[in-house]
Amino acid sequence: MSVNRRFFLFGSALAAHAFQSEKPVGTGMIGVGNRGSFLLQGVLRQPNAKVLALCDTKPDRLDKAATAAVRDNPATFADWRRVIESKDVDAVFIATPPYLHSEMAIAAIKAGKNVYCEKPIGVTPAQVRALLDAAKGSGKVFVAGQQLRSQKQLGETVRKIREGVIGDVIMVKAQRHATADLEHDGTSADWYFDVAKSGGYLIEQSVHNLDLCNWAIGAHPSRACGFGAIVMYKNDPPGRTIFDCGSITYDYPGGVKMSFTQNVFHPASMPNGNQYVYVYGTKGAVDLMTGTMYPPGRVSPVVLAPKQQEDQFAHIAAFYDSITKGTPPPVDIKGGATAALTAILGHQAMVQEKVVTWSDLGVEV
Ligand SMILES: NC(=O)c1ccc[n+]([C@@H]2O[C@H](COP(=O)([O-])OP(=O)(O)OC[C@H]3O[C@@H](n4cnc5c(N)ncnc54)[C@H](O)[C@@H]3O)[C@@H](O)[C@H]2O)c1
Repeated sequence: MSVNRRFFLFGSALAAHAFQSEKPVGTGMIGVGNRGSFLLQGVLRQPNAKVLALCDTKPDRLDKAATAAVRDNPATFADWRRVIESKDVDAVFIATPPYLHSEMAIAAIKAGKNVYCEKPIGVTPAQVRALLDAAKGSGKVFVAGQQLRSQKQLGETVRKIREGVIGDVIMVKAQRHATADLEHDGTSADWYFDVAKSGGYLIEQSVHNLDLCNWAIGAHPSRACGFGAIVMYKNDPPGRTIFDCGSITYDYPGGVKMSFTQNVFHPASMPNGNQYVYVYGTKGAVDLMTGTMYPPGRVSPVVLAPKQQEDQFAHIAAFYDSITKGTPPPVDIKGGATAALTAILGHQAMVQEKVVTWSDLGVEV
C-alpha cells in the first residue's frame, strides 16, 4: 500500500468518525432484564446515543424499558433479529442469558453493527471461537461487558504492578464468595441454574474476577485443575446443574500460580468473605481491590491507587468513544474471549477432574 493511499484511508476513517459524532449513534438493546435495564440507563446518559430499538421476550420487561427510554421513543420487539435488521441501528447491546450471546453478537457483527456484549461472551469454546472469527477484522467496535477494566483505581493499581512495584508477579490468590445463592424463584431462575444456559458460577460470575487475575499477571493461564460440586443446594432448585462451590488452581506461563475459590454460602458476618485478588510479587504483595501494596516483612502498607469517584457508566461511554472517536475499546473481542476461556478452562477442569490445558480448548485467541 502506498503512503498516499494509507493517508487517504486514515483521513477517510477520521472523517467517518467526525461525521458519526455529529449525529447520535442509533442504538438497539437486546435483553432488558436486570443488567440490560441498567445498561439502558447508561446509554440514555450518553450525549451521543439515541435508543432506537428495544427487545425482550418478556413483555413486562419490554414495557418497563420502553417507559425508561420514552425520550427516544424506540421501537419494541420480541424477536431480536428485528433489532439487527433495523438499518438505523449502529450499535447493539446484548444482555440476554449467556448461552445466547455468541449467536446474537455474530448476527449483529455480520449486519455491520458495533457490539457491546455482556460477559461471558460465550459458555463453550465453540461459541467463543465462532464469535472471535466473526469479530476479528470486522472493522466494527466490539466491547465485552467486563466493566471492571474501566475502573480507574483498578487500572492504576495494575499499571503499577506492571511497572514492577512488587517485582515479578509470582502468585495470585483470589476468590468470589457470595453470602447467598441466587434467588431460586427470582426473575433469572429460568436460565441461571442450568449450566448449559449460564455456564455455571465460574463462567457466569467469576469471569470478572478471573479477568482481573489475568490483568494483574499480564497473561492467561496455560492449564488448570480443580474440583467443584453441589454441596449445599442439592437439586435445589429442582434440576439444578450448576455447582455451588469450587476450588481451582491455574498455572500461568513462567510458573506463576493462581488459586481461586468460589462459593455461595459464606456467612455475611464471617471475615474474609466477598471478593478479593491478592497479587504476590518478589518484592511484596498487592490487594488489587483496594489498591494497597504490602511490602515484605512488618512494614506499613502503601496506598498505590486511592479510592476515587468512579463513573458507573464509564465502560459504556468508552464504547461510544470507540465508535465516534476511534479510541481503543477497554475490552475488545480478544479480551472478552480470553476471560471467557479462562473461566471455561477452570470449569472444564472441575467437570473432568483432571488437568485441562489452554490448547485443549482449541481456540486461537
Ligand atoms: N457486567 C456485569 O457486571 C453484569 C451484571 C449482571 C449481569 N450481567 C450479564 O448480563 C446478562 C443478563 O443477566 P441479567 O442478570 O440481566 O439476567 P435477566 O434474566 O435479568 O435478563 C435477561 C433478559 O434477557 C431476556 N431474554 C431471554 N431470551 C431472550 C431472547 N431470545 N431474546 C430477547 N430477550 C431475551 C429475558 O427475558 C430477560 O429479560 C448475563 O450474561 C449476565 O452475566 C453482567
